[in-house]
Amino acid sequence: MNESAFAPTLRRPIRELPDALISQIAAGEVVERPASVVRELVDNSLDAGATQVTVRLLAGGVRLIAVEDDGMGILQHELPIAFKRHATSKIGSLSDLESVATMGFRGEALAAINSIADCAILSRASDQNSAYQLEGRTGELKPVARAQGTTVEVKELFYSTPARRKFLKTDATELAHCIEAVRRHALGRPDVGFAIWHEGKLVEQWRRCDAGSDPMAALNQRLADVLGADFMAQSIAINWQPAPAPGARPGPLPALRVWGRVGVPDAARSRADQQFCYVNGRFVRDKVLTHAARSAYEDVLHGHRQPVYALFLAMDPTRVDVNVHPTKIEVRFRDSREVHQGVRHAVEDALAVPRSAGADPMHNDAPRANAEASAPALFSVSNQSMAPMYSAQPAMYLEARNEPYGNRVSDLGALWSRSPTAVELNEAVPPAAAPTTEHWPLGRALAQLQGVYILSENTQGLVIVDMHAAHERILYERLKNQLDAAPPEAGQAHVARLSSQPLLIPVTFAATPDEVATAEAHADSLQTLGLEITPFSQKTLAVRAVPTTLAQGDAIELARSVLAELAQHDANTVIQRAQNELLATMACHGAVRANRRLNLEEMNALLRQMEATERSDQCNHGRPTWRQLKLGELDALFLRGR
Ligand SMILES: Nc1ncnc2c1ncn2[C@@H]1O[C@H](COP(=O)(O)OP(=O)(O)O)[C@@H](O)[C@H]1O
Ligand SMILES: [Mg+2]
Repeated sequence: MNESAFAPTLRRPIRELPDALISQIAAGEVVERPASVVRELVDNSLDAGATQVTVRLLAGGVRLIAVEDDGMGILQHELPIAFKRHATSKIGSLSDLESVATMGFRGEALAAINSIADCAILSRASDQNSAYQLEGRTGELKPVARAQGTTVEVKELFYSTPARRKFLKTDATELAHCIEAVRRHALGRPDVGFAIWHEGKLVEQWRRCDAGSDPMAALNQRLADVLGADFMAQSIAINWQPAPAPGARPGPLPALRVWGRVGVPDAARSRADQQFCYVNGRFVRDKVLTHAARSAYEDVLHGHRQPVYALFLAMDPTRVDVNVHPTKIEVRFRDSREVHQGVRHAVEDALAVPRSAGADPMHNDAPRANAEASAPALFSVSNQSMAPMYSAQPAMYLEARNEPYGNRVSDLGALWSRSPTAVELNEAVPPAAAPTTEHWPLGRALAQLQGVYILSENTQGLVIVDMHAAHERILYERLKNQLDAAPPEAGQAHVARLSSQPLLIPVTFAATPDEVATAEAHADSLQTLGLEITPFSQKTLAVRAVPTTLAQGDAIELARSVLAELAQHDANTVIQRAQNELLATMACHGAVRANRRLNLEEMNALLRQMEATERSDQCNHGRPTWRQLKLGELDALFLRGR
């Protein structure tokens, strides 16, 4: 190595840095671009109790950022202190810091901004008769005219640090970042009005919503104003808090509360640009939260699609450390597992309610569909057209009949697979209390289209159902439920398994050596999945049992696809790690295929099952299972009523 390439190390005296330089270094952390200044100044306005905040910008904020509020203001003699480093009115001790409830507390922002721009504060404190203006550079203090509140002006950002200035983008880009900064505040504080002016023009305005009696209504109003009607139409309200531990006395603060709105899977985007998380009113970017929210969509979102949501968390301030990052955009939770689970549950619960269940998307409190009302349709299934591959076991039939009507996992698949008998058809009594179509959110089946879609009529108009996708979801949820609920067998404390149905006549298929090897190596996993696949000869495998739920599917296809997936995994860990993917594959093969003729009863049975199945609005791949065409839309197609 060529030593002379390095500068010789000179000894320099240790010196304390000058104040101005310290502030400039701090500014490097806090102020990346004009939007960072906007964020800090609006934080201060909110901390001062403002009800209206107005942001004025020139040249994307580079030439001027002025933030004006009607908050409590700053007393004349305190004005010079506000520009000092580490000067704050918000905390005074370590215990204050641990339970800080304000946006700011580091006392850094004004000093840092003042070190890299030309600043002034104009303020009139509450109960004071006069307002004063302090010039940051000269320290000059003079009386001015102003109503109660504060205006902070920041001119020529980065004038003293031209290197930073070079990193700035176009005015339009910087303006967009400034607007985004205010938007984040606006979502967090519906009770405060916001306005943004650029070059003398009003570019955004969000009026204050009276939070008074109904904070949720105020939040909904603000969400609609900021994120638009589409977001509202395509999102579900959530309001979650953990069930109290048995015997626990309710404290004044729940350990965690989560509320807000989460977008339906359909509303997902290719970019994560509509994900807003707030912890105790502070906008944060946090991996625990985004991961928890994304994992709640695991089953219903395709690949890399990004969900949209605005999530608000309230928790005891001592359980979250906000002093992690100079810009306070990151936080650290004392118990991140608890927070992860809370958020995941909150979002999952909301997504699990099928919209077909009559839930008003604006208010997630509608009761779920009453599966009972739909049961008679299930019992009138006659099934000439869908030639069953395996005739059902009599025991199963009895079991199915003994199930309470309301059981939401009652066996549609088994019913479909059964050959109708005279007894059964006779038993297809007209329902005593015949439910009218009005009670069926997904309506009354009318016809099947191209062997792919079910058309049905509900009170709003026409419903179109992708029959395979819908059935796939129903089966998947049922398989998951079974695996979760299956009682552990004696001696195998941890192994739950799918209920399995032996085939009267095993089916055999020509298998590759790989498939034969996998079937042998994974016999246990297969059993857990309700499958029994054993070598029949060197080159043939026999399927001897299939999961009861999938009894009507193509056993060979099912066996092949499960073996293919198992082949990719290590024998011991496969069930834990890949369980859901395996179940999804199985559901896909078990689901009714295109071009199978269904009669009306079968179609209705499927619709009723959908209404009673969690997450039935999407198939396992995140595609929608049904769409509504409202009468109005149909009328529009035909130019009626114009
Ligand atoms: N808009 C405002 N209204 C009232 N007081 C303000 C305003 N902006 C700043 N201040 C005062 O100036 C102090 C310093 O502000 P800042 O440097 O942002 O630090 P911090 O917000 O961390 O306290 C604040 O603690 C507050 O007392
Ligand atoms: Mg501050």
